Amino acid sequence: MNIHIFDHQHELDQAAASLIIDTVRGTAQPVLGLATGSTPTGIYQALLHQFKSGAVSFKHATTFNLDEYVGLPPEHDQSYAYYMNTRFFDHIDIAREQVHLPDGMADDLEAECRQYDRMLAAAPVDLQLLGIGHNGHIGFNEPAQALRSGTHVVQLQEETLQANARFFERSADVPQRAITMGIGSILRAKSILLVVRGADKAAIVREALTGPITTSCPASLLQTHAAVTVLLDRAAGKELQ
Ligand code: F6R
Repeated sequence: MNIHIFDHQHELDQAAASLIIDTVRGTAQPVLGLATGSTPTGIYQALLHQFKSGAVSFKHATTFNLDEYVGLPPEHDQSYAYYMNTRFFDHIDIAREQVHLPDGMADDLEAECRQYDRMLAAAPVDLQLLGIGHNGHIGFNEPAQALRSGTHVVQLQEETLQANARFFERSADVPQRAITMGIGSILRAKSILLVVRGADKAAIVREALTGPITTSCPASLLQTHAAVTVLLDRAAGKELQ
């Protein structure tokens, strides 16, 4: 595991964007696994900046997002589709048919999950971008006695619902369920880029990267992957060593 700690936010965002751009430039048909949330917003800005300056094209890229809320249409400003469109996809040259997010509005959510897995199997992810939840979740794979390998519908845990509530007017509006890529799909990515910011994540970063490998901290399974890069700000890295 390659761990890098940064003093300045823009350096961390720049480093993450550079790794993504290296993958896009170095692969004929690059497949990116993407994340939403507050952590990667600066990374998407940095990528847009590089795109606008002509340093990178996403014309041949395919993307798969980790997750989407059940019951929010893409036009809803808290859906992950809306997040990705407004922050990234609407501004780059990617072909729309190569952009994939789980459809949280599908009538048959199980069929949607199987279809997502089929698409992932046909286009294995080259680089998977990840954030981490305070409880150690990656994607929306919440701590549990057992984890699922493939894409599935998940009931979000109380801690996650509370963390997500900051984005909604009323806590009753926070979706209770999401579709997420499974742990197996995440670990099948050829390389993984975990980005974490903030002192509130320092304890879970230590637990995930240096603690026992356990399903009660899903991110600890990243220790089993051969090509993980971790980018932290100083606050998130403060409990390491
Ligand atoms: C988002 C995702 C989540 C977030 C995690 C951290 O697509 O899969 O696992 O990465 O909840 O969220 P932030 O960055 O908002 O702290």
